[in-house]
Amino acid sequence: MQPKRILMCKAEHFGVNFEINPWMHKDNQPSREKALEQQDDIIKTLQDLGHQIVFIAPEPECPDMCFTANSAVVRGDLAFLGNLPTERQPEHPHYEQWFTSHGFSVHTTKYRFGGGGDALWVGDLLIAGYGPATRRATDLEVHKELRDVFGVKIVSVQTTDERFYDLDMAIAVINPNLIAYCKEVLDQESVMKIQVLDNVEAIEVSLEDALGFGCNLISDGKNILISDRAPGLIGELRNRGFNVLPHSIGQFMLSGGGIRCLGLDLPHEGSR
Ligand code: ARG
Repeated sequence: MQPKRILMCKAEHFGVNFEINPWMHKDNQPSREKALEQQDDIIKTLQDLGHQIVFIAPEPECPDMCFTANSAVVRGDLAFLGNLPTERQPEHPHYEQWFTSHGFSVHTTKYRFGGGGDALWVGDLLIAGYGPATRRATDLEVHKELRDVFGVKIVSVQTTDERFYDLDMAIAVINPNLIAYCKEVLDQESVMKIQVLDNVEAIEVSLEDALGFGCNLISDGKNILISDRAPGLIGELRNRGFNVLPHSIGQFMLSGGGIRCLGLDLPHEGSR
């Protein structure tokens, strides 16, 4: 198991200050204290497993900044930055500054893009998501840009359910040869594309488990941190011999975020 280097941001200013996905309701606020506890448990588990956590400072005007997965997609020394909804744009300069000051070249796009939340590395392949066409008609443009900038093959898949506004809610990468996905929230053509991926087995996840944020997991190929609200997927992964470590994520779910949203995979220093 290769130790990971993960970018995180403490949920010190976390709150539901706006509603940009169907999970968020300003009249249903998370407890910041409990959220920090849930996040700390995740951090501790990752560190105990030998992974390195790198922190970016939380900013008061950025209640969603703890969801670092959306900040960028990274490969080598290149960070292709997310271009988030207006409400989250105050995060952009902080992330751009962090990446440039940590030796990355940054690429910005004019198209809306959810960063690592909407683009998943499966080995050298990038599975990129786009939502209901009327809402995000330009997303396919950003997929072409990802292809050109990274020089990799992109598999574009479409989510059909607003609750799965980011692809990491619907698809989980366990290792370069194994993914898990919820068929019911992807269009038929996308399901086909997933089923025929070369050397990639795809486990089906029930809608209930996906709604419990089961797909929004962090895997190092051996150990898997997963939401405790996805019993089916937890059982399936255990049967396959993984060390499955369920965590509570309820406070972040009030903002539409799960375990994976809280971390962004970075390459190791020296490997770039
Ligand atoms: N409230 C955040 C938003 O809507 C949640 C982000 C979750 N991130 C993710 N990678 N799915 O932008």
